[in-house]
Order: sequence, then structure tokens, then C-alpha cells
Amino acid sequence: MDTAEIRRRFLEHFESNGHTVVPSASLLLDDPNLLFVNAGMVPFKPYFLGQETPPYKRATSVQKCVRTQDIEEVGKTTRHGTFFQMNGNFSFGDYFKEGAIELAWKLVTGSVADGGLGFDPDKVWVTVLPTDIEARNAWKSIAGLPDERIQDRGLEDNYWHMGVPGPGGPCSEIYIDRGPQYGPDGGPVVDEDRFLEIWNLVFMQEELSQVRSKADFDVLAPLPSKNIDTGMGLERVAYLLQGKQNMYEIDQVFPVIEKASALSGKRYGAVHEDDVRFRVIADHVRSGLMLIGDGVTPGNEGRGYVLRRLLRRAVRSMRLLGYEDPALPELLPVSRDEMSRSYPEIASDFARISQVAYAEEETFRQTLAKGTQIFDLAADSAKSQGATVLTGDKAFQLHDTYGFPIDLTLEMAAEQGLAVDEQGFRALMAEQRARAKADAKSKKGRHADTSIYRDALDTYGPTEWLAYERLSTESQVRSLIQESGRTPAVGESQIAEVVLDRTPFYAESGGQNADAGVLVWDGGRAEVLDVQRPVRGLVVHQVRVLEGELTEGAALQADVDPQWRVGACQAHSGTHVVHAALREVLGPTALQSGSYNRPGYLRLDFGWSSALTPEQLRDVEHAANVALREDLQVTAAVMPLERAKELGALALFGETYGEDVRVVEIGGPWSRELCGGTHVSRSSQIGTVVLTSDSSVGAGNRRVEAVVGLEGFAYLARERDLVAQVSDLLKVTRDDVPGRVADLVGRLRTAEKEMEKLRAEALLSSAGDLAAGADDVDGVAYVGHVAEGLGAKEVRTLALDVRGRLDGSRPAVVTVVGTADGKAACVVAVNEAGRSAGLAAGELIRPAMESLGGRGGGKADVAQGGGSEVAAAPQAVEAVRRALHGAA
Ligand code: ALA
Repeated sequence: MDTAEIRRRFLEHFESNGHTVVPSASLLLDDPNLLFVNAGMVPFKPYFLGQETPPYKRATSVQKCVRTQDIEEVGKTTRHGTFFQMNGNFSFGDYFKEGAIELAWKLVTGSVADGGLGFDPDKVWVTVLPTDIEARNAWKSIAGLPDERIQDRGLEDNYWHMGVPGPGGPCSEIYIDRGPQYGPDGGPVVDEDRFLEIWNLVFMQEELSQVRSKADFDVLAPLPSKNIDTGMGLERVAYLLQGKQNMYEIDQVFPVIEKASALSGKRYGAVHEDDVRFRVIADHVRSGLMLIGDGVTPGNEGRGYVLRRLLRRAVRSMRLLGYEDPALPELLPVSRDEMSRSYPEIASDFARISQVAYAEEETFRQTLAKGTQIFDLAADSAKSQGATVLTGDKAFQLHDTYGFPIDLTLEMAAEQGLAVDEQGFRALMAEQRARAKADAKSKKGRHADTSIYRDALDTYGPTEWLAYERLSTESQVRSLIQESGRTPAVGESQIAEVVLDRTPFYAESGGQNADAGVLVWDGGRAEVLDVQRPVRGLVVHQVRVLEGELTEGAALQADVDPQWRVGACQAHSGTHVVHAALREVLGPTALQSGSYNRPGYLRLDFGWSSALTPEQLRDVEHAANVALREDLQVTAAVMPLERAKELGALALFGETYGEDVRVVEIGGPWSRELCGGTHVSRSSQIGTVVLTSDSSVGAGNRRVEAVVGLEGFAYLARERDLVAQVSDLLKVTRDDVPGRVADLVGRLRTAEKEMEKLRAEALLSSAGDLAAGADDVDGVAYVGHVAEGLGAKEVRTLALDVRGRLDGSRPAVVTVVGTADGKAACVVAVNEAGRSAGLAAGELIRPAMESLGGRGGGKADVAQGGGSEVAAAPQAVEAVRRALHGAA
């Protein structure tokens, strides 16, 4: 039974039992505690916690999941995959244990003809929490399982929570016995390879406040209702039903292994190490595909780093199999063909996805080329110092600067007979991570612990948010928060966070900066520095009190600075206009991957690999300004996500959206994006759009920056002033400036060449005079000369030229010392007759070098050197002369 069919049967079973089929959410959900969605229940968390009312009592989904804590295990065991799909059914206060057990049992053991999965009921084992008598009894009465196939396991295995504060509850796991060839008898408590877990039924009934480990946590309160959350590993069921040994061999994954085998010429199933590599490739290529599909781009932190690591490990595993050409262009399309059956967007979006992946492979190839040199240098220097270990520092530098994975460093070091101080490396990595984490926290607000905000939300309810309607409200202070916690009052010049009952302030989101403004109350005022939404529904203002004292409960006036808001609207609408203009000029694959805007300024990152040409930039700017001139209407409407998708509204990758979304249009279909920002009402109000730069932000992504509104005009005015100054200086009209500058540059070049020529001529002509003035030193013709302003090259030319002009029949020696840029350059040249007489330039230059305080040397015919004692140049010339006495 192929994977798609198992998926279909699962959904069908639950749909026909009253469940609403909910499509998989993006792998990236807006949960500060999770890097990626790692369980089917994640998108439903607010329903379990009672924060939101579910629109249905029963739901079912097949959720894309990524877990990366076991990355090193991939391929070594049969069960670890970084990407996998979790089939789930959910009940929100509807059926509980018995219902869940009955529905699961029917699907697992129902016959294939009747739409079931057809597992033999005698092969099914389950585990329960020892105290959960209800679950044990249900398995006996509903499934007829004998007591010995219902095993007790403690909290460690049979209590499920998210690993962080949130919902949790006892659970019961379903196992399939694969037979004695896979391990000993005795059920899952004895052997989890033979007895493979396929499904976990969680009886979700508690909210946890603290989670220290699997079995060590604090229960905050019972949940508002008793719920069901289940998770069935789609890949595991597939490999059982397909008679395979592991998840890498199922229909959705194996074709990549086959392709890798064809490319490398290595056979899968022959050598264990190679098999591990094949599985790493198959797993990581698929995970990379799905992550990029959901909008992750490779980077050095967080999600981007995970993606980078996956892609690079896949590429490197191909190299270890002996395949050195670009591998992803061969492998990714194979994975696409399999995965697009369940996720059609993977095929329709493949141009973008592949661009990102291939660019990352290219970057890695360059990294390998560069890093290998650095590595070799480090290894050589360690060995030349007699060391047997490469320092943690070096390994860290290779990793941090050159993106060299530690396993690569380890392996290459081993090849050179070196160990690596891995502990030192890990310590440095940990430090870096701690820094990054502290950084991320300090950006979000001062309280890493969001419970202080959650308390505010629980006590007072959500902030009434009026940013779309007004710039000013009468509000009341709900709570004041400082570094130490909640506080009743905040005095002058202190900084605090303020929760109001209602606010007109826009909190930073969707790339739009927070509003600026003031809070004013009887006897005081505060300046608003930042506005964030640390938990959904709660707006928090960071303020500095300018005058008076701000107290909890105080009534005040919250005023957004109207000028600021005008600028913010211009910049945000401007961002949409630039995005639409980019797509108009470059085509629909130029999709936004991130943005930031504040009054007067915007930047937009988009998927594109090459630098924009000056023509393209001009065309984009032109298209944007035409849209402004057309005075297009800007509208915002809230509609169901489905409707927005039908309209083709552009969603930002990596953002998560609820059921209802806000769609902002500029000129109807010309620009249609999901967006929660504030906007102008007609495009002409943006004023102007001036592109100021185009640059690269990592592989496959570019960034354009622009100034808008008054700032746009100010920017152009500055350029105009510059041109005016230049045209003044050149005394030509502005149109003639480029011609005049080109002319000046050309003339300057000619003049420089002319000067060069004159200098050479002067040099050569002085050579004749110098040769004519040669002295006789004990039968040797000697020319010693100090030439101010000559560099080493010219000194050499001059010395050789003089030597050539001296009478070749008798021994001759020439010394020229040039002084330029605070350095002395010295050349000693000896002619053939001189060398026959036993004179050697390499010897003669030594005393000169002593005078000049430097080093030099050479052969018998010419020697040269340099020193810093410029003032000693005449002494150097004389020192050579002295050395000639009686030498020939
Ligand atoms: N949420 C449960 C799990 O992930 C079903 O195993």
C-alpha cells in the first residue's frame, strides 16, 4: 500500500466518523518555543488550551513535521527521519479515551477491503500508564486485547507533553509485532525494534506550567475540557505495510536512494557505511525540499541553519560516496516527483525551491574549496609545532567563518593523523549559542519569560486594538512591567512596559516598524519607544517617562505621532508597490522573502540569484512610479484564507495565518498581498519611490532598498546638490558633466603616462653621466650614486644601465641607493670582468646593508636589498667603495 493511499485511508476513516479534514499547516508556526512544527497537534494548541474556540469538535489532519534533535542518528537506526508526516485525529471536548481507542482499533485492524489498514489483531500490543485503569479496561472491552498484551509503562513513556509548558496528558501507544526475526519476545517493554510503535493516543487533560524532563513537570490546572490528540507515524506504517526494513525504503523516499546509487556507482545494501550515507541523502534532500517549500532559506541561525546543515550533509554524503559534481540538481527533482503527489505546491513552486537549494550547494562547494586551504594551513602548522591535536579554536573558526561542519573537520584531521579538541570546540559553540539566544531575547522585549504577559492577558483580556481606525484613544493603564517584574508605579526618566486597555499604536509586525508617539496623563507624559505583541492579543508599549509618575490604573491619552504614521503608511504601501514592480519586471518568481519599513525607508528581500542590471533597476523604479502616478486605490478586506488563495493573494513564506486573513490590494489585482499593516488610501500618497541599492543577502536572495515620500525627494535633492557642486567646479552645464569628467580622466591618464616616460628618459640620460664619472678604486671602475625619489624597480634599472655603459674590458661595480617613501632601496651590480677578478655583488652589498639597517643579497652579478636608515644612503655607497680596496 503506497504512502499516499495510507494517508487517504486515514483521513477518509476519520472524515466518515464526523471529523473535519484540516490541511497540514506550514512547518513554521508562530510559536516562540518551537523551531518547527513537530507534532500534529501544534496548530491546534490554542484550542486545547481554551485560548480560542475551535470551529469544530472533531478534526483530522496529516501534518508535516520536522524534528532535528536526532540529526546525527539519521540513517543509523531504522526510525529517525528529520521530516515526517503525522496522521492525527483530534477531539476538543467531544469523545475521550473510549472513542479514541475504538476509532484507532477499527482503522488499524479493519480489513483492507473495508478501507482499513489490515494489521493482524494478534500482532497488536499496547502500553498504558499503570494508573490508567480506564484505558486498560477500554482496550480489553473494545479491542478484546488480552491483559498480557496491554503493558504498563511509566510517565517517561506514557505521559505526553510538548517538552515545554503547554497541554499534556496520559497516553497509550499502539505497537505492531514484526516477528521473532527482529528481536526477543516480551512486548514493547523488552524490545522496541521488534515491537514498533505506530500510534500514540494522548488523553489530553492538563495544562503544564513547568517541564523539566519527560517525567518531571508541574501541572498548572486541568484543561477546560478533556481532549484527544493522536499521532500516527505515516512513514512507519508505510514501511510495515510495504514490507520494508526502514522508513528510508518506502515509496516516497527510496527513489532518491536509487538515483544516488546510479550517480555514485555504489550499491545500496552492500556496505553499512555507504547505506548510512544513502539514507542521510534521501532523508535530508526531502527535508530540505519541504523546508524551502515552506519558506525557509539557508542561514547561520535558527531555522536557516538547520536547513543549511541538512543540505550540506546531503551534498557531503554524496561526495563521500564518490560523487563530486553538483548533486542537488540531480536529486531534488526526484524527491519533488514523489512529494508533490501529496503536496502539489512543491511542484508548482519548484522554480523557486530549486533556485534556493542549488545556490546553497554552490556556496558550499566554494566553502569546501576555500576552507580546505585554511584547514591544510592549520594542520600543517599544528604538525610543524609537533602537535597531535587541532585546537578547538581552529575547529570553531573553520566552522564559524568557513561553514565547515565539525564532522568534516574531524574526518579531514583524522586523515592527517590529527585529533581535534572537540570539547573545546563544543564549548565555543555553546558560548556562541548562548550569545545568540540572549540577543534574540533582548530584541523581543525584556522578559524572556512570557508568563508575565500571559498573566496580563489572562487577567485583563486582549488589548482593544484600534490602529486601523484612530491615531488617538483615551485609555487606562492595565499593568506596568519592569525588569524586576510587575510594578505599581514608574517614575520620571525610567523605562517600563505598559499594557493599556485600548491603543491606537501599531505594534511591530509584518516588517512594519512600531508607531512612535506619546502617552499623556494628568501631570505627566511618556514617550513611546517601541510597541510589540509578545503574546497574541496583547499589545505592550515600551515607554520612557518624561515627566511625572505613571501608575497602574491611571487614565491617559495615547497619541500616535500623526506625521510618523503618514510616513509608516507610505513606506509600507511603498513596499507592496516595489514588490509588484519587481515581479512586473523580473517575472513572478521574484517573490518577497522578507521586508522592513519605517517612515521614509523600506527594504525588501526577494528570491533572485543575480545582481540586477542598471536597466532592470531603472525599469523597476519606473514601474513603481507609474503605479503612483496612476493613483491606484488601496483597499484592505478581511476574508477566509481559502478565498484569498483563490484570488492569488501573495503570502509571505514563513508567516502563519489564521482562518480569516486581511488582504491589501493596490489597484485590484496589480498588487494583492496578505498583510496586517497600515497603508495609504491611494498610491499617489506614497509621493515617490527612489531605489537606492541592490545587494546580495545570502545565496539566492537579493535586497533592494528604497526611500519614499519626502525622504525620497530629499534624497533626490541631495543628488541634485552634488551635481550642482560638480558642475560649478568644472564650469560646465550639468548635462556636460559626464563628458567633462570623462575628458578629465582621459587627460589625467595621458599626463601620467607622459610623466612616466619622462622619468624613464631622465633616468637613462643620468646613466650616461654617471658612467662617465666613474672613479678608479684599486683598478676597479666604481660608480656610487644616491638617487632621491627612486623605488626599488627604478634603482635596479638604473644600476644595470650604468653597468652596461662602463668599459667592459676592466672590472666595474655600480652601487645605486634610492630613497622613496621613507625606505632605502639598494642595488649593487658587477660586470663580467669584475666577476672574473673575484668580485661578487652578493658580498659587496653586505656593508651597504649594515649602513641601511636592513637585509639584502643576491648573486655575483646583481644583489639588492632595502633598509629603513634612509639618511645613511651616502654611507652605504661609501661602504661598498671601501670594500673594493684591495679586493680585485
Ligand atoms: N502529540 C502526540 C505525539 O506527538 C500524539 O506523539
